[in-house]
Amino acid sequence: MNTLSVKVTRKVEEAEGIASFELTSASGTPLPPFSAGSHIDVHVRDGIVRQYSLCNDPTEQHRYLIAVLRDPSSRGGSEAMHDEVAEGAILQISEPRNHFPLSPSARTLLLAGGIGVTPLLCMAERLAQIGATFTMHYCTRSSQRTAFRERIAQSQFADRVDFHFDDGPADQKLDLSNVLGAPTSDVNVYICGPTGFIEHVLKSAKALGWPDSQLHLEYFGAKPIDTSHDEDFEVKVASTGRCYKVPADKSVAAVLIENGIDIPLSCEQGVCGTCITRILDGQPDHRDMYFTSDEKAKNDQFTPCCSRSKGKLLVLDI
Ligand code: FES
Repeated sequence: MNTLSVKVTRKVEEAEGIASFELTSASGTPLPPFSAGSHIDVHVRDGIVRQYSLCNDPTEQHRYLIAVLRDPSSRGGSEAMHDEVAEGAILQISEPRNHFPLSPSARTLLLAGGIGVTPLLCMAERLAQIGATFTMHYCTRSSQRTAFRERIAQSQFADRVDFHFDDGPADQKLDLSNVLGAPTSDVNVYICGPTGFIEHVLKSAKALGWPDSQLHLEYFGAKPIDTSHDEDFEVKVASTGRCYKVPADKSVAAVLIENGIDIPLSCEQGVCGTCITRILDGQPDHRDMYFTSDEKAKNDQFTPCCSRSKGKLLVLDI
């Protein structure tokens, strides 16, 4: 995987527990362009790769801006970003990839929960630039935990953003049935935030009759996956012809590593792409957030750290 070297040129405490990092090219050349909704993988330190959405204006090529929520319950990536990455540090990152692109529509509704504001802020910049009609609702626990308030207040789209604080009065809380209303075909809804926030919005939207095709979402962190119906299957290592049973409670990568087969791992949740393995036969059950839908549809590679098999056998090109 190609990586880019970038320098942390600014680190700013944007809100309680949230720091932003401005990244510029270490070589001084323009950074690869990106579209609203894109993310980059950041190699935080050895063995830790994390995915962060770009939240700056997508016309900028002199910098990328990411924001990181310190999450003590996570596996160390966010704390390392906060505690170990200072201004002047050099980081390796991937080129931007976009799994959460904006589609044209007459109206756009952006619903952000907490740090999930990052890709939606980038979308708001883009929509404002092209003169599109949109509104944004930004829900956080409190005003102290609300990143980019000042930036939004200073932006050309300030009047299209409503803030909602969990600890604020009842009349400013997000009223989803009112905000979403009855579905109309000319509206696209983009939702990003923690799992609880997304599930809550989805439940309300579905109850109002919104079709999946108009609800676009990106989970902050790994998407919850129902593993209760997981079954055993086998993987075959093409180079040796040997088969290994993958029980319901183990990943393909874990089984292969136990059997002495080297599978490089980093995030172990389908985010970074480090473990990508080619498939020669069989149909994978993709559970990653790394591949785009088109890449997944080809079924010629998968992420053995989290993805499984739809059939009884997967033949791996290793
Ligand atoms: Fe990151 Fe598998 S280890 S996608």
